[in-house]
Amino acid sequence: MAEDILVDVDNSEEGRSYWDQGDKISTSKIFNKMGIGRHSKKDSRLADGWIARKPSLYKVSSEKRSWQESRDSCLNMGADLIVVNDIEEQKFLLPYKNVWIGLSDTDNEGVWKWVDGTPLTIKYWAPGEPNNAGNEDCAEISSKAANPMKAWNDVPCYSSFQYICEDHF
Ligand code: BGC
Ligand code: CA
Repeated sequence: MAEDILVDVDNSEEGRSYWDQGDKISTSKIFNKMGIGRHSKKDSRLADGWIARKPSLYKVSSEKRSWQESRDSCLNMGADLIVVNDIEEQKFLLPYKNVWIGLSDTDNEGVWKWVDGTPLTIKYWAPGEPNNAGNEDCAEISSKAANPMKAWNDVPCYSSFQYICEDHF
């Protein structure tokens, strides 16, 4: 952090210490170690049950909500619904079923958009999806997919599902 000051460790009279004599450490590290002051966002996210997977942190909700309410809940926490950028991130989703992801075509039927504006390039739709079966504009991870690496399904946005928020380190 920019306002950190580097300090020399002088524990010559204290015996055992967390840091070695002669180390240079930043003030934020000292405050974190003492449990006071500014913890990193990552530290407080981890304490709140977020999962770290570089370069992101994820929170799987326990409650179920509509797609928009889910998104609002993520935004309220300073995050957003998960954006699947690569195959590793899709693999991260393997254990989760019937969860919202940050993908919808509400604005323009058939034009799927990620919440952060990332163009939809890699896709892991289940076979035959998205089929807009009765106005389905929001994407979930289907529990019915035979191949979990082809599992996205469009459903009505008012459906109630758990959701995964993503934040960056
Ligand atoms: C879902 C649809 C889906 C279909 C696939 C339905 O229960 O609501 O979104 O396309 O199953 O079989
Ligand atoms: Ca569908």
